[in-house]
Order: sequence, then C-alpha cells, then structure tokens
Amino acid sequence: MSTTYFSSSSSLIVIVFTSLLFASISSLQTPKHYVVYMGSPVEADLHNGEASYFQLLDTLLPREESERSKGVHHYKHAFRGFSAMLTEEEAAAFSEHDEVVSVFEDPMLQLHTTRSWDFLESLSGVASSFPIYNSFHGSSDIIIGVVDTGIWPESPSFNDKGFGEIPSKWKGTCMEGPDFNKSHCNRKLIGARYYTSAGAKSARDANSHGTHTASTAAGAHVNGASDRGLARGTAKGGQPGCRIAVYKVCNDDGCSGSALLKAIDDAVNDGVDLISISIGLNAASRPDYLSDPIAIGAFHAELKGVMVIASAGNDGPDPSTVTNVAPWIVTVAASTIDRNFQSSVILGSGKVLRGAGIHFSNATRSKAYPLVYARNVAAASTPFEDARACLPGALDPKKIAGKVVVCVMSSTTGITKRIIKLILEDAGSRGLILINKKEKIIAFDSGDFPVSEVDMVDGYKILKYILHTKNPTVTIVPTVEIKRTKPAPVVAIFSSRGPASLTENILKPDVMAPGVLILAAVTPPENAKRSTPTYGLRSGTSMSCPHVTGAAAFVKAFRPSWTPSMIKSALMTTAIQYDNMRRAVTNTSRLTSTPHETGAGEINPHRAINPGLVFETTALDYLQFLCYFGYSQKTISKTLTKANFICPQKVSEDLISTINYPSISIGNLRRGQRYQKIIERTVTNVGPEKNVTYVAHIEAPEGLVVKVTPKRLVFGENVSKVSFKVWFYGKTSASKGYHHGSLEWSDGYHLVRTVFSVKIK
Ligand SMILES: *[C@@H]1O[C@H](CO)[C@@H](O)[C@H](O)[C@H]1NC(C)=O
Ligand SMILES: *[C@@H]1O[C@H](CO)[C@@H](O)[C@H](O)[C@H]1NC(C)=O
Ligand SMILES: *[C@@H]1O[C@H](CO)[C@@H](O)[C@H](O)[C@H]1NC(C)=O
Ligand SMILES: *[C@@H]1O[C@H](CO)[C@@H](O)[C@H](O)[C@H]1NC(C)=O
Ligand SMILES: *[C@@H]1O[C@H](CO)[C@@H](O)[C@H](O)[C@H]1NC(C)=O
Repeated sequence: MSTTYFSSSSSLIVIVFTSLLFASISSLQTPKHYVVYMGSPVEADLHNGEASYFQLLDTLLPREESERSKGVHHYKHAFRGFSAMLTEEEAAAFSEHDEVVSVFEDPMLQLHTTRSWDFLESLSGVASSFPIYNSFHGSSDIIIGVVDTGIWPESPSFNDKGFGEIPSKWKGTCMEGPDFNKSHCNRKLIGARYYTSAGAKSARDANSHGTHTASTAAGAHVNGASDRGLARGTAKGGQPGCRIAVYKVCNDDGCSGSALLKAIDDAVNDGVDLISISIGLNAASRPDYLSDPIAIGAFHAELKGVMVIASAGNDGPDPSTVTNVAPWIVTVAASTIDRNFQSSVILGSGKVLRGAGIHFSNATRSKAYPLVYARNVAAASTPFEDARACLPGALDPKKIAGKVVVCVMSSTTGITKRIIKLILEDAGSRGLILINKKEKIIAFDSGDFPVSEVDMVDGYKILKYILHTKNPTVTIVPTVEIKRTKPAPVVAIFSSRGPASLTENILKPDVMAPGVLILAAVTPPENAKRSTPTYGLRSGTSMSCPHVTGAAAFVKAFRPSWTPSMIKSALMTTAIQYDNMRRAVTNTSRLTSTPHETGAGEINPHRAINPGLVFETTALDYLQFLCYFGYSQKTISKTLTKANFICPQKVSEDLISTINYPSISIGNLRRGQRYQKIIERTVTNVGPEKNVTYVAHIEAPEGLVVKVTPKRLVFGENVSKVSFKVWFYGKTSASKGYHHGSLEWSDGYHLVRTVFSVKIK
C-alpha cells in the first residue's frame, strides 16, 4: 500500500509538506542515543516498574515511534533518568523540561590501557613486588564492582576456595549469556552483568582488560603465576578476600557512556562497596561534570556511601591531561615498580649493550644474524627519514629478510612500536633494535619476535659499529627479569598530568600507584583450556586504578564504618613521596615530580589504616562545589531532590579551593600580601587516643609565604573535629606558574600530610 502511495508523483509533494510540518518533532534527523539525567531518585520510581518520567518520552515522541519511546536504559536506583534514541530537537525539548538536569549524547569512552600507544601496547609488569597486605586473611564481606570489559571466570585468580557465604547484603545477579552461565559465578565472583546496548552478549572477557583489572584489585593468591615464564611469583590482588562483581560496558570499539551509567546504577543497588573504573573520556573531549557519565554516576554512588576509584588517563606527560577529575572520585596516576625486563644486544665485535624488551623467542647467544640500519635499506624513492623510522612501505622487504634491523623511533609520527615490529616480521626479519629516547623506553611484549629497545647513547654505538664494519652481525638475547631496580617508583611517562582543566582549584590526580608492567590474570589463548592459568604484563593507569581500589578495600576491611571520603583522605595523607633510593620521587626526566604528576604520592595501604586524622568531604562540600563551579541553584536543586540546599550567597570559581578536600589547590593567586588567600580545613581525629595534640610543620616553596593557625590542634574527649586556617601569599619575587609544597600535622606518631599547589598569576 505504501508503495503505490510513494510512486505517485503528486504525493511526493504531500510527503515533503508533511515532513516540514513534523520537522520540529522528528523525521528530518536520524535519532541519536542521548542520556537524559534527572538527578537523585524519587520514591515513586523505585516502586514503579515503568517510572513516571518514562511518560515524558511518550508525550514527546511521535506515536508511531513506539519502539523509541521505550528508551534504551532506565536509571532509578542511585539516580534518575534514562537514555533513548532522540533527534536533536527532541533532546533540546527534554533539556528544557523542569525535571531534567542535563541531556547529552551518549559518549564513547576509552579503556585506559595502552592499546593505541606503542610504548604501552602489550606491556607487561609485575604486581608481586607491590606491598601486598598479608595481614588480612580469609574472605571479607567487601564487594568490589569492576566496570570494564567483563571477566574470564575460569581464571584461578577468581577461585573461591576458603570463601564463606555470599554476604546477605548482595542483591545482584549472575547474568547468563551464550558462554557464561550461573555456574561461572561463585563465592568470590559473586555477580556479573553485561549490557547489550554496549555490544556485549555475555559477561565473558575477550579483551583481557577487565580480567586484568579485577584480578589486580581482588584476585586470589595464585602461586607460580608468570607471563610465559617471566615475572614469576605469587599473583594476588590488593584485597584477595574481597568479592568481585563485574559490569561489562565495553566492546572492541570502546565503552558506552549510557551503559556505564546503568552499570553504576545497578552496582549501587546490587550492594557493592567500591567501584573501580579504568575507563575515561578522551582527553580532548572535556565535558563538564553534568554531562560526564562517570562524574554523574560517581556523585550519586558517593552519596550512597559507595566509593568510586578511576584512572587518570594515559595522555601524559603533557600538563592538563588528567581526566575523571570530579572531587568525589579518587583519581589515580601511574608509576613504575622496581622491576624491569631486559633484552640485551651483543654486537659481532663482542660489545654488549643493555636494552629493554619482552619477547619469548628461543634465540641463544650463539646465533648471530646480519645487522642493517633501516636508513640503508630503504625502498626505491623513499625519503631517508621515513626509512630510518621504519615507516610502513619505507623499507625494501628483500633487503631486510633474514636480518636484524635498527630503527629510530620517530617523535613526529604516530607510528607505534607494534606496527614496526609487524612490518619487520612480515618481511621475514630476524629481529628489531629500536633506538628511542631513554625516558620513553618501556619494554613491550613482542611475542616470539626478538626486540630490544636501546637509548640514544647505545644507539649511536650500534650505528657506529654498522658504519665501520664490513659484515656487521648481532644477537638479541632472551629477556631477563631485573629485580629491585632503582629508582622506583618513577612517574610513568604516559600517566596523565594535572592541573585539571575543568577547575584548577581541586588538585588532581589524587594518588599514584603501580601501573607499568603489571602482572595479572588475562584471557587464555584461543586454543588453550579455559582454566589455563594465564597471566600477562600490562601498563596504563588502567592498571594503577585497581591497585588503589584494592588498597581502599583493605582500609575498609579494617575500618568498616568509614565513609568513602575518609578512606580517600587516609590514602592521600599517608602516601609516600620517596623512592627506594630515599630521594624524592622523580619523573622520567629524572626531575623531582610534582603533585600534578603524583597527587599526594604513592599509596601506602598499611599506613592508611592508621592515618590519625582525616579530612571528611561531605555532600554539602560537593554541592557547594557545584555552586562555585557555576551551575545554577535550580540545576543543583534538581541533582538532589530531597535536600533543601541553598547555594552560598557568594559564589566564585576561586571558592572551590575552600571545600574540605585532603589536598589544596589555588589556581589563581596574585603576588603580594594583600592578595593573600585563606583556606580553612577541618580534620577529624580517628586515632586511638581521644586526648591528642597535633603540631604543624610546613614545607613552603621559595616563592610562597605559607602560615597556619592554630599551629597546634588539640583534640579531647568531646572534641573530635578541629578546624585550622592556612594563609598563602606570593612573594613579589615569585615566578609565574605553579609552586608546590606541603603541610604536615604530627602527634609524634601519625603524620598527616596535605600537599598544596598554588599558581602565581
Ligand atoms: C554451564 O557451563 C559449564 C561450563 O561451561 C557447563 O559445564 C555446565 O553444564 C553449564 N550449565 C548449564 C546449566 O548450562
Ligand atoms: C619532569 O618534571 C619537570 C619538573 O616539573 C618537568 O619540567 C618535566 O617536563 C617533567 N618530565 C616529564 C617527562 O614529565
Ligand atoms: C621455544 O622452545 C620451546 C621448548 O622447546 C617450544 O615449546 C617453543 O615453541 C619454542 N618457541 C619458539 C618461538 O620457537
Ligand atoms: C582526656 O582529658 C580529659 C580532660 O583533661 C580527662 O578528663 C580524661 O580522663 C582524659 N582521657 C584519657 C583517656 O586520658
Ligand atoms: C564530655 O561531654 C559529656 C557529656 O556532654 C560531659 O559529661 C563530659 O564532662 C565532657 N568531658 C569533657 C572532658 O569535657
């Protein structure tokens, strides 16, 4: 019937005419996936199968689009809203609605591993030298929610030997899929959900990322774990006694923001205590807090007592690259650990040069191959610079077959180490020697293909040898593990740096944890038995984030009544600023690191159990933060329907520095005493003694005058909270830019350290 209708030429006019009429509602645009966020949940929705606000969809969408009017996701536990296929006009109409806080297009988020980064690709590392907490055994009732790529349930890291009953607070489920049924969950892996809108068909992890992060946070003790023989040791998570629930929101293209929101909504309702998210928006897309799914979800999770830990991103070392910067999130940077992987190069002359590499070839010291410099084996009419960097198509395959090729890592092209390795492997080369800047060298897993990465100094020696030798040869020796390397930790070159671009008045990242060459469970190879213990080395803030999740769970096990902000404060004020050479932690340029790289420092879970004092950041602080950031009273009231909260009369971006945060950042200070800033903070005594006095010690940088009043904090039987003020002003001689320092409180036993960053305009 419709065919005949469309075939008549006169009705074409009718069609055009009608679509113009309806253009404002639908047909001219293809609907796109939007999230409609409506603030905190209301009672009615919790009991109502079809939430009241879904009627909104009905009223706004054309009747014939009944499929669309069902929406895609429906949020009702931790917060309220839905996601649906909408046209731009419809989305705009929703954003005008009284009950709606924000409307934004469903964003695609990225895993914070190294997939797209050559020096991060297939990296591996080691968790076992990380201070692991042997003092807590058996199973605990703490549940960690891991929002990621799913899980490989057969991995021995998720066996439930010795685990007690599933905690009664657990309300979640083990969702079945084609290759994942209820028998895959157990007393350790207590829940699994997946989201079809994110392209998932089951909670099974084909990627390894989710399996790696879950086992880092809470994997069971597994003796003799190794990556094909390397990094052998006992693999275990930060809190092996914890229960794990996974929420799969990613596929190979990325992670769906609307599904991620649903996962947080579900996780809070299921009864998790902590949520670990090694995912973030692209550093370039900087949404504000009310159009960022992780920020929205984490806000409501925090209000319900669920702690959210997220990765800072892998966009370093440039400044202002840190993501997941909302003050209610624990933002995690990445460091190296004291282990490295070495694959040396032996030249025909007998000279041995140390390089970095992780490969599993059976090369022996006795087998030498001809050695060529890529520049000398260019394909016809190829610029030498392209050949020397081994760009695709730049080398003559005939001239590199059977040989080891020396390439120079180019700083101007985005070519990855992995691609260079593939090019050589395809041409039948015998190995790759990669010359790179020392600070950029991170061993990467090149499988069976021998790769050694050397610095410029050694690279020059190799090139000189080639130039002066008639038939140069080389052997790339098998990888060996180097333990107790110094210095460690060092800030990982890829770790995203502060200051936060959304507001410089909160110091981000918050803390640092191991994220380079971390050994944890991965998906076994396709042809292997599903239960084969398979461990892999990976790098990224994706790997450092679950270390902090495990550490937070460890603190919670000892201090079950503490709120997320108390645990965060404990992790921050007890963090370490020194490396294993007892010097200040450095970055890969060998320069002392700043809080914009490390946050408060490298986490120290054992000390975090006894921090002495904590900074409690409350819901009121977060709401004031939203006022100061610039959201309207109306918008903020909508995010929290129950509270009759009123924004302070005076609001300004600068006042963000005044919320009760465990670190201090002032993004804008003019020189001179008359522009001084006074920041008030309140600490709560959580130490064993009620009557206790803390004394202040300030480490002020050159350009700043920093004073604290009072200088002594006296706590008593009835005085568990005490406030103090910190005065900052810039000396007239102070240079422009950031100045960093710290304020330490001590009672002779506890050290409570607050780092600060102050920018002189
Ligand atoms: C669930 O999967 C396991 C392992 O693949 C299998 O042995 C078992 O029979 C399955 N159970 C059901 C109910 O399908
Ligand atoms: C290391 O820190 C110094 C001083 O803050 C900075 O200038 C340098 O760019 C940093 N290097 C890296 C690789 O981040
Ligand atoms: C190396 O040797 C082992 C043991 O002989 C063998 O299993 C493996 O396949 C070999 N690897 C390569 C790349 O030849
Ligand atoms: C703490 O100090 C108060 C007042 O000085 C005193 O009464 C109380 O006994 C002290 N408590 C302890 C545990 O020392
Ligand atoms: C603490 O408060 C209680 C109850 O208000 C009071 O009886 C007690 O004297 C107070 N103790 C001190 C040391 O002030």
